Amino acid sequence: MKKVIAALLTISLILVCLYFGLRPQPEPVAEVTGLIDAPTLDDIHTDDGQTIVGISMPDRLLERWNKDGSYLRAQFEKKGCKVLLRYANNLIDTQIDDIVDMIREGADLLVIAAVDGSALTEVLDLAKSANVPIIAYDRLIMDSDVVDYYVSFDNYKVGVLQAQYIIRILDLAHSEKPKHIEFVTGDPVDNNARYFYNGAMDTIKPYLDSQKLISLSGQVNFYETATAQWSTDIAQQRLQIILNSYYPENVTLDAVLCANDSTALGAVRALESDYTQKNPVAVTGQDGDIANIYNIINGTQGMTVFKALREESVVTVALGLALLDGKRPAEDLIAASDWDFKCSYNTTDYDNGKKLVASYLLEPITITADNIEHQLFDTGYYRRNSAGLIYAAK
Ligand code: BGC
Repeated sequence: MKKVIAALLTISLILVCLYFGLRPQPEPVAEVTGLIDAPTLDDIHTDDGQTIVGISMPDRLLERWNKDGSYLRAQFEKKGCKVLLRYANNLIDTQIDDIVDMIREGADLLVIAAVDGSALTEVLDLAKSANVPIIAYDRLIMDSDVVDYYVSFDNYKVGVLQAQYIIRILDLAHSEKPKHIEFVTGDPVDNNARYFYNGAMDTIKPYLDSQKLISLSGQVNFYETATAQWSTDIAQQRLQIILNSYYPENVTLDAVLCANDSTALGAVRALESDYTQKNPVAVTGQDGDIANIYNIINGTQGMTVFKALREESVVTVALGLALLDGKRPAEDLIAASDWDFKCSYNTTDYDNGKKLVASYLLEPITITADNIEHQLFDTGYYRRNSAGLIYAAK
């Protein structure tokens, strides 16, 4: 009997091996280097004549990209465009595949917030060979001479505002005793992260140089303070280690300069779990995510830099429609608009390594507990429902 069972098992094993060996293998994912041959222009599917806009966003994890995607989609659809909206899960290859797919599906315009600013050179060459204009959205796309325009906020100023808040709140101009600060910066593959860092560092450096401000961890440069993927968890863990290693019970920490709200959430959690002193720690942020708005109101985060995403999308849609119309706008786009917000046209400051990219830049603003009602609620960007819950409105 045992021999029969053994024989049956062997036969089944052979059959299973044959099945998996002979069945058709899945197509390998396109290599980045093979992209130029991926879809030929003949493959491109042009449909019923409706204009197609391809929007590629980095991830859904952050509140902001969800808003960006839905604002852009709604406005392009209102203008009669068909919208392809893809989120790349923060993965470079997924974003490249998304863009290839959108070109294949006949996109007439691409709006891209890059996961990695330097990884899209080849796929954008492909877009250009299909005559698809490209707008770099929020994050500058590097190393490409085919990016047409860039729409963003003044990213250097974001860092300046964060540093100015810390200088003001710690009264560094007048304080005698040195204060302690730690830095939590952004994702090194996001080109914006360096602008935020440079703005903050240029502003705060005189106080570090004069030792009015000291980082006890000694972690000050961009790479040692970086946070991969802008992750809340990574920011939290890094600050927990710093707190446990450099801030024993008798040593106070005064400020954590965080580059954005997702990293600020991590910092606040680390302070709650691993910092027992009772002094308030000044934590900065950026975006105005709802969780962080609550934290500003309850005092665990000092400020955020608010960027009106709807306005960023309004500029992008106006620019996109002009490009689809065969125009190459400059200041005239702003002059012809009825925008009730400030936007400047810049052709000198955004060098992507291959060209100076013509840019439309909006103004970021500082939000603290003192001006939050006026700047975010009275203006209608956020509302409270009858239960007091905050939600984004405008
Ligand atoms: C954006 C920020 C955002 C960060 C993380 C940056 O490029 O400008 O608004 O917080 O990415 O997604």
